[in-house]
Amino acid sequence: MENIQLAALGVVLQVMKEGRNLNQVLDEAQSQSWMPAQRAALQDLSYGTLRYYGQLCALLELLLKKPLEEERVRCLLLVALYQLQYSKAAQYAVVNHAVRAVRTVNARFGGLVNAILRNFLRNQAALLVQAAHSKSGRYSYQAWWMDMLQAQYGEASLAILDAGNLHPPMSLRVNHRRITTEDYLAQLNLQGIPARIIAPAALQLEKPVAVNKLPGFSEGLVSVQDAGAQYAAQLLAIQEGMRVLDACAAPGGKTAHILECTQVELVAVDKDALRLERIAQNLQRLNLTAQLIHGDAADPQAWWDGLPFQRILADVPCSASGVVRRHPDIKWLRRKKDIASFAAQQLDILRALWPLLARQGKLLYVTCSVFQQENQQVIARFLELQADAQRLDIAIPEQLFPDDQHDGFFYALLEKKQF
Ligand SMILES: C[S@@+](CC[C@H](N)C(=O)[O-])C[C@H]1O[C@@H](n2cnc3c(N)ncnc32)[C@H](O)[C@@H]1O
Repeated sequence: MENIQLAALGVVLQVMKEGRNLNQVLDEAQSQSWMPAQRAALQDLSYGTLRYYGQLCALLELLLKKPLEEERVRCLLLVALYQLQYSKAAQYAVVNHAVRAVRTVNARFGGLVNAILRNFLRNQAALLVQAAHSKSGRYSYQAWWMDMLQAQYGEASLAILDAGNLHPPMSLRVNHRRITTEDYLAQLNLQGIPARIIAPAALQLEKPVAVNKLPGFSEGLVSVQDAGAQYAAQLLAIQEGMRVLDACAAPGGKTAHILECTQVELVAVDKDALRLERIAQNLQRLNLTAQLIHGDAADPQAWWDGLPFQRILADVPCSASGVVRRHPDIKWLRRKKDIASFAAQQLDILRALWPLLARQGKLLYVTCSVFQQENQQVIARFLELQADAQRLDIAIPEQLFPDDQHDGFFYALLEKKQF
């Protein structure tokens, strides 16, 4: 286990000190010849330590008699505290392995690691209560993040913070070109994978499974997609034969869903060439086709052929504050100033895409953010500036918060007036 603890401390440090993306770091760390169970354990320790980073730091401060400058030892202790508090690993094993692991980091700290972890186990309940006295120790977010949500949602912000720390469900989107949701559920049951239907094409698995265990995955019967993301295709009310633009399309989840629902002429654009390749791979697996363009949604003149679109999906880049339970590193990597910068970028993209929309055409604006600066405020500003735009009612709440059914999303449907 000490190898996994050491690898996890490396992952967490790269995220927290170098500002690197958790999934990228994990991919690199896992490329060693590890068994699946070891990979899963590294993922759990890295995700878990970052998910509860604020609480674990508060606990460590309470346990230390004087500041601990040695970063790698600190981080090893955070990983071990995570295991003691949240994992099913035997407590004696966590402590013994951490004491062994610290020898390769800095042998002088063996006694301290042992004392701190044992002290935690002796006083666990009281320490948890004390750690929760600070908001960061209770909720594990940066102060500005909690303040921003509090200013917007008041007391309700606390439930949003807690929801962001839960384990996310694994949801699937059934490819209705190939199979009905009910028939796919039957296939899952045959494989002993318990699931339930939560939306017309959405199934939620009782427990996450590797995609290669999903029947017919490589043949394109099903994709992994949060149920909240599956509203996009429905809200756009696309009809057969329409010309549709998906302006920030990679990795192509919503692109594919649109194509699974209706036969349309779809143009999918993304600024990131590598991510654009993932759209191609996903469409190939699902046997769907779209025109893929490597381009900037804020500069359509560089790639637009001049033919208007009846529908536009603008699933714009955002803080991703609605999906932190899937990406706990985001809670620590975002800076307060990023939110204003995303909002400016989002408005730019909206304004640049608007001329591409046909009269009476519809544009769906989507973010996976819970910050109003990126959502309601961008739309309000856009409507002030764009006289021929009007907002339409939709059948779901404009702001979805993360819960047991879906992640956090914002949806605004805009129509170009006839004039
Ligand atoms: C939220 S993700 C899109 C998710 C995608 N719609 C899906 O359902 O799978 C946002 C995407 O916007 C892309 N992006 C960021 N800035 C962009 C820009 N100016 N023009 C086009 N794409 C952009 C990013 O590369 C990223 O792939």
